[in-house]
Amino acid sequence: MLLDVNRLRVRFETGEDTVTAVRDVSFSLTEGETLGIVGESGSGKSQTVMAIMGLLADNGRVDGSARFRGEELVGLPQRLLRRGRGNSISMIFQDPMTSLNPHLRIATQMTEVLAYHRGMGRRRAMDAAVAMLEAVHIPDAGRRIRYYPHEFSGGMRQRVMIAMALLCEPEILIADEPTTALDVTVQAEILDLIRDLRHRFGTSVLMITHDLGVVAGTCDRVIVMRQGEIVESGDAADIFARPQHDYTRALLDAVPRLDTPPLIQSGR
Ligand SMILES: Nc1ncnc2c1ncn2[C@@H]1O[C@H](COP(=O)(O)OP(=O)(O)O)[C@@H](O)[C@H]1O
Ligand SMILES: [Mg+2]
Repeated sequence: MLLDVNRLRVRFETGEDTVTAVRDVSFSLTEGETLGIVGESGSGKSQTVMAIMGLLADNGRVDGSARFRGEELVGLPQRLLRRGRGNSISMIFQDPMTSLNPHLRIATQMTEVLAYHRGMGRRRAMDAAVAMLEAVHIPDAGRRIRYYPHEFSGGMRQRVMIAMALLCEPEILIADEPTTALDVTVQAEILDLIRDLRHRFGTSVLMITHDLGVVAGTCDRVIVMRQGEIVESGDAADIFARPQHDYTRALLDAVPRLDTPPLIQSGR
């Protein structure tokens, strides 16, 4: 098993009381698989993965277990987590500026990652960085790698962040609402890209979204979260065809979008 999460619980101390954001969440991710975590805003999706990555806010506490290839991540010292984080599990966010430094050229940011994590010299790192920008379909990558983040459009900046995330050849890519801020056409392009990269690099994906439309053509399996708990889980195609929970039905009803791929496509 690539990732095995067992009775994960996240609590926050807020001065007056304790907020339980994630309650006994269990799921697993196998190699090459894309798992969707779906739920309305505030249902605990992000805190679930932040806990796995050791990125909770200072007032957060995590209990339970999250094992990556058998190795426990919960309670691991930051120093070791960071090493694992860079190499084995990468994360992309709704806002690329969470991961990109606005003051540095993309070339600098990418080659630093490659120097740090893969010990590459400058010339080799530069070649690898350009190749990765080409892999995420950035036109004229050899020239644009000299750009600063703000010189890219929103969709292109999202591609740059994905390229950065893939530089260390992660085994798991966690995408937290990666297309939420983008318009519908660009959103579809980014989802296509993630699907394509998943096959090309063999990366497993945890796709977090409030939008079941995003899940339709992307995910093999889905877990549905509400108020910190999993209310339903299963094959993506089954959940679309036969949602068991009213809450899941309500999420499905909220997907009137034209770009939603036909349901048949999720029946891989
Ligand atoms: N640092 C914090 N202190 C207190 N509560 C928090 C903190 N961070 C997140 N929460 C709460 O945890 C719950 C789950 O948040 P989150 O996982 O971010 O939801 P989402 O499903 O939208 O990603 C929310 O109610 C949020 O207010
Ligand atoms: Mg979130």
